[in-house]
Amino acid sequence: MIHAVERPQAHAPTHCTPEQYDAMYRASVETPDAFWLEQAQRLDWFTAPTIGGDWAYDPVAIKWFEDGKLNLCHNAVDRHLPEHADTTALIFEPDDPASEDRSLTYGELHREVVRMANALKKLGVGKGDRVTIYMPMILEGAVAMLACARLGAVHSVVFGGFSPEALAGRIEDCGSRFVITADEGLRGGKRVPLKANVDAALNLAAHATPVEGVLVIPHTGGTIDMVEGRDHWLADLASDEDCPCEVMDAEDPLFILYTSGSTGKPKGVLHTTGGYGVWTATTFHYIFDYQPGEVFWCTADIGWVTGHSYVVYGPLFNAATALVFEGVPNYPDHGRFWDVVDKHQVNIIYTAPTAIRALMREGDHHVTSRSRASLRLLGSVGEPINPEAWRWYFDVVGEGRCPVIDTWWQTETGGCMITTLPGAHDMKPGSAGLPFFGVRPQLVDNEGHVLEGANEGNLCITHSWPGQARTVYGDHERFVQTYFSTYVGKYFTGDGCKRDEDGYYWITGRVDDVINVSGHRMGTAEVESALVLHAKVAEAAVVGYPHDIKGQGIYCYVTLNVGEDGSDGLLAELKAHVRKEIGPIATPDIIHFTDGLPKTRSGKIMRRILRKIAENEFGALGDTSTLADPSLVERLIEGRQNR
Ligand code: PRX
Repeated sequence: MIHAVERPQAHAPTHCTPEQYDAMYRASVETPDAFWLEQAQRLDWFTAPTIGGDWAYDPVAIKWFEDGKLNLCHNAVDRHLPEHADTTALIFEPDDPASEDRSLTYGELHREVVRMANALKKLGVGKGDRVTIYMPMILEGAVAMLACARLGAVHSVVFGGFSPEALAGRIEDCGSRFVITADEGLRGGKRVPLKANVDAALNLAAHATPVEGVLVIPHTGGTIDMVEGRDHWLADLASDEDCPCEVMDAEDPLFILYTSGSTGKPKGVLHTTGGYGVWTATTFHYIFDYQPGEVFWCTADIGWVTGHSYVVYGPLFNAATALVFEGVPNYPDHGRFWDVVDKHQVNIIYTAPTAIRALMREGDHHVTSRSRASLRLLGSVGEPINPEAWRWYFDVVGEGRCPVIDTWWQTETGGCMITTLPGAHDMKPGSAGLPFFGVRPQLVDNEGHVLEGANEGNLCITHSWPGQARTVYGDHERFVQTYFSTYVGKYFTGDGCKRDEDGYYWITGRVDDVINVSGHRMGTAEVESALVLHAKVAEAAVVGYPHDIKGQGIYCYVTLNVGEDGSDGLLAELKAHVRKEIGPIATPDIIHFTDGLPKTRSGKIMRRILRKIAENEFGALGDTSTLADPSLVERLIEGRQNR
């Protein structure tokens, strides 16, 4: 039995008391339009909206604040100038602690954004154009996003850890004619050849509309090739002239972000301007309980949605000071996070369970040897946090004085959806908590029957919220199919979930063929497609299995072409092959060579069985009588690699 943890006394509730949460939640579900039109006033609109939500889930059409006009760069930067020109907006902490840190006030950020926006204009970028951003975690990554928003261009940030192949696919899918990159990135002392990867990607991309302009930001000073006429250094195009913010409709697109699903290629999830703006501004304010003067640090890369919403947009809409960290938790040693906390006097840290588990394993002394006195609140996101890691985060990192705020959400939700609010709620280790304002979760069984009270089922959301994704770029039908067809009339999250007697939600993990590796979402189908591209591979089936640090590891069953042997050499070759096709985050943990995959007589791979064997739970395989070759299961168990 897990008990609630009292709210730590040291946290003085300010933005939301328990009574306020109750009243506001009630208002948000009883009169959502009025509630969200009021919250919309957190933003500065050129034309204030008079319409709240206008949405339906069958057929699927979602709009919020549709008669409002605004620009989110104006909201993140320009509108703070009268009061906050000298407030620090962004702090940069480099990969190498011996390198110089750097920060930008809101005034300086404004200048940088205008300079980059002017450079983009000279490249030919205009309203509605898609711009791919492939950057390290440096301030110019955030500046690039804001410069796009300023011009009304749609940014598509691709994580710098993705391969040229993966980058090419994403450039091609959204017909992006422009790329912003850096010469190289740095992570844990290693150089990441970003510009060279862009060059390789552009050689691969069989583009209907070829990339016309690449804007390059100098970072490491490493040697790179510049293609005449296509590639330009920022300094050669940047200028300080006036660059007004485009007036955008609330439903104009803001960004595309590719994310993995259970089938096919990654989807370009599309977020629009007004609703996403209101959602990130509001969630940041209440969930992190940010106080003026504090330093907020979200450790996510801007290549993921967490980086979009809580490194860049949410904090900047709130005139906060946000830290951008280029490095990794274990470089130069396992105390780096807490060095950064002490150096920049970080008050709020927001990170992923996988990082917490990795640091926990290294021992408390890396933590206790640092002060951490500035810390006031600890956030968690990206995957379920196991109670042991939760306890360590709370007791050791936070010394029992900082609330742990576990936030459940997704690329598709735009911002946090289920969480406890500091000052308002007790915490339960391992539970994400309660719905944020306007969020109406529902649990259903596999047939779609609604499950009431304390129960376990598939997590759906029954009513739209402003931050909801509007479509899959270029493929609305796929959006409808993926999220609204399993349980018609509801948004299906793909997650399994328990609800306890106090109404707290406990996410149990994905119920589809998506796995969560170190807080990164990975479609098993993507890894399978990469594997079968290898000349020696006949067939592949990929499943997740429990992994102490990563949450889930990648277990690949592979059958080889006739005459090929599953040697150690080939095993290493296949791992390298997947890294090359997708990126290091997709590197298989286990490759299990087999002479066949368990299939039904109609040829469908029985993943349930493969999952069980990978989890080492082969005692409970269930019915295997429909298998075409029942003896195969014995051989698979015999050859299992996760012992
Ligand atoms: O399975 C859930 C898990 O991460 C998925 C969403 O992944 P992504 O779109 O990459 O966004 C990650 C960051 C918001 C979800 O479907 N997930 C995310 N946060 C949590 C979580 N699982 C449990 N607890 C969380 N706090």
